[in-house]
Amino acid sequence: NIKLERFNDQEALYNRAFEIIGQHLNAGAKSFGLATGGTMVPLYSRICQSDLDFSQCTSVNLDEYVGLPRQHDESYYAFMQNNLFQTKPFKETNLPNGEAQNVEEEASQYEQLVQSKNVDLQLLGVGENGHIGFNEPGTPFTSETHVVQLTPSTREANARFFDSIDEVPEKAITLGISTILRAKCILLLAVGEKKRAALDALLSGEITEKFPITSLRTHSNVIVLTDL
Ligand code: F6R
Repeated sequence: NIKLERFNDQEALYNRAFEIIGQHLNAGAKSFGLATGGTMVPLYSRICQSDLDFSQCTSVNLDEYVGLPRQHDESYYAFMQNNLFQTKPFKETNLPNGEAQNVEEEASQYEQLVQSKNVDLQLLGVGENGHIGFNEPGTPFTSETHVVQLTPSTREANARFFDSIDEVPEKAITLGISTILRAKCILLLAVGEKKRAALDALLSGEITEKFPITSLRTHSNVIVLTDL
């Protein structure tokens, strides 16, 4: 059950995304699933400029690179601090620890944590290849939080944030697809021409593990905002 809303300009799209988050907050949502990436920057900037109050809320982030120190500018920990948490404090924030000694164990502990948080609203971007979180094509829809080997295409797409592609980590910890689908409501933003193939797969075509985004068609409450 996908509610699609199309926008001519990104300004209107982000205003609507901001409005939806405010509505959930006002309706009593306490647990937010958060994403990183370029798509989220204008949304978090709107939230930072607003008077929305998350001080009674918990957040759980989708993913984190393995082996990148939290202090590194491109860690998702740093991204969240810089783009949201420093300006908008939450009662509790959570990200996978990509520096854990045993990342497999960290992934299974994070799975338990996310399950215990009962996410009310999950924010999602989408990769050019249809990934959600870092669930790359071929990931089973039954997957739980796990360690992934990033595909060359995802590392290339993210190289713009690093000095060179060699510096992009090769692994990440990500919520699994089944973990993401536990959220009561999912808000996905597909912004920019590069996301067209992923959006097309979501809206037409079969439900297939080749396009992780198509797993959203098995969820009962998904809102998609797009400028495509
Ligand atoms: C980020 C995440 C990824 C991104 C996706 C799109 O936490 O889980 O799935 O949402 O890679 O990235 P951008 O927004 O940079 O195009």
